[in-house]
Amino acid sequence: MPTDSELVIERFRSAGQGQVFAFFDGLAPDAQARLIAEASEIDLGEVNRLVRTLVAPGGPAAADLEGLVPAPYERLPGHGGDAGAWSKAAAAGEAALRAGRVAAFTVAGGQGTRLGYDGPKGTFPVTPVRHHSLFQVFSEKILAAGNRYGRPLHWFIMTSHQNHAATEAYFRDNRHFGLDPGRVHLFRQGRMPAVDYSGKILLESRGSLALSPDGHGGSLRALERSGALDLMAAEGIDTLSYFQVDNPLVRCVDAAFIGWHLLKGSEMSSKTVPKAYPEEKLGHFCRKGGRLVVIEYSDLPIELQRERDPSTGALRYEAGSIAIHVIDRDFVRRMAQGVGALPFHRADKRIATVDAAGREVRPEKANGVKFEMFVFDALPSARNPVVIETSRADDFSPVKNAEGVDSPATCRADQLRQFARWLRKAGAAVPADPACPPEFALEISPLFGYDEQTFMESWSRLATKPAIENGLCL
Ligand code: UTP
Repeated sequence: MPTDSELVIERFRSAGQGQVFAFFDGLAPDAQARLIAEASEIDLGEVNRLVRTLVAPGGPAAADLEGLVPAPYERLPGHGGDAGAWSKAAAAGEAALRAGRVAAFTVAGGQGTRLGYDGPKGTFPVTPVRHHSLFQVFSEKILAAGNRYGRPLHWFIMTSHQNHAATEAYFRDNRHFGLDPGRVHLFRQGRMPAVDYSGKILLESRGSLALSPDGHGGSLRALERSGALDLMAAEGIDTLSYFQVDNPLVRCVDAAFIGWHLLKGSEMSSKTVPKAYPEEKLGHFCRKGGRLVVIEYSDLPIELQRERDPSTGALRYEAGSIAIHVIDRDFVRRMAQGVGALPFHRADKRIATVDAAGREVRPEKANGVKFEMFVFDALPSARNPVVIETSRADDFSPVKNAEGVDSPATCRADQLRQFARWLRKAGAAVPADPACPPEFALEISPLFGYDEQTFMESWSRLATKPAIENGLCL
């Protein structure tokens, strides 16, 4: 009788992936057991299919754009939208928050390679003066919103195998930033093996596979597998407010957005900002065959990205995707159970591996392919998906790169501008652009105000208004 290990090894050999066990005989027994456990996780049928469709010569088919049109969206009242409909949406969202139907959900399993920061990205110090981390900013926003609506929020955070323990320790060491630890739920996402350009699964070391997180789209099945959906059902939560870990400006729970989603009977809703310029690297909300889709910037021909509406001069494909969604719990369940399963995409990456002699290789350029799912690929399966406009300054300034666009410096400047805007609205005198004199120290804790409205309320309650000539921290 072959042992379980022998069966696993045989399965890999007959799938043409025997190289995974090239160094097996030289490993210590516990290392052998670890490699067998990793290998047992792999769905070889799925890997072979992905290699055939995404890696094999010819590569992935180009996106099919037949019948594509720009998607309509609900405009902000200041941009031609219906102010009455927005207030109704806000009231409906507030009622849902007061009833405890909404949870916050952050995807934090990415590898953050572009930022090049050592540690979970959520622990990156992002605020301009106090240098609070992304996780602290979100914690305080969620805490403050819970207080406001009289129902402390549950917060689900998806981590990866690589960063789970460090994320858990970070929250523990910081006493969950004042949140009830029983309402902060961390769970790991799934992972996928990376392959080289001939479709062979790569080893990261002699005794371990090159595994990486399965993309933010993996969140749908991870929510199901981790038991998070059952917990939500038990707690009466039916609506998830989804955002990415890299964007401290985001309104973690936005009553109007939640209200639009609920009133429209939507299963998955999205926020959009008009693209700032045609080449901006945002996905585009479009409709195709009667369904809402997001077409990535790399898949939409540049001529279409530059097309303008002759009457208004606005870009035709102006609705950019900023990865902020409201998602219905039962829709997540349906998607996780395989109805409308999300496709995998190919990402060419530098993947640390070993050579034929088992020596470490740290490639300078991409040497293989990782497979990832994207959460927006769930949109075509959602009933009544609604897209609403938001103002970029109130919701979106991600930290992606170490320098240049979407970097800590641009995000810091956007936070300063937001704080200054709120103060000016309240009647305080602040420099025209507080991001310009860098010595102007300005920071407003989400516990004081996490959006314009809550800021104004707290400010109006201050008996003595603080001086701000030399900066201000509230
Ligand atoms: P990005 O697409 O920016 O990827 O993720 P990344 O891995 O964080 O960064 P790079 O590309 O290596 O520089 C967008 C959001 O999706 C999450 C990230 O944590 C971030 O919040 N994400 C991404 C996951 O949760 N899991 C993944 O597998 C990928």
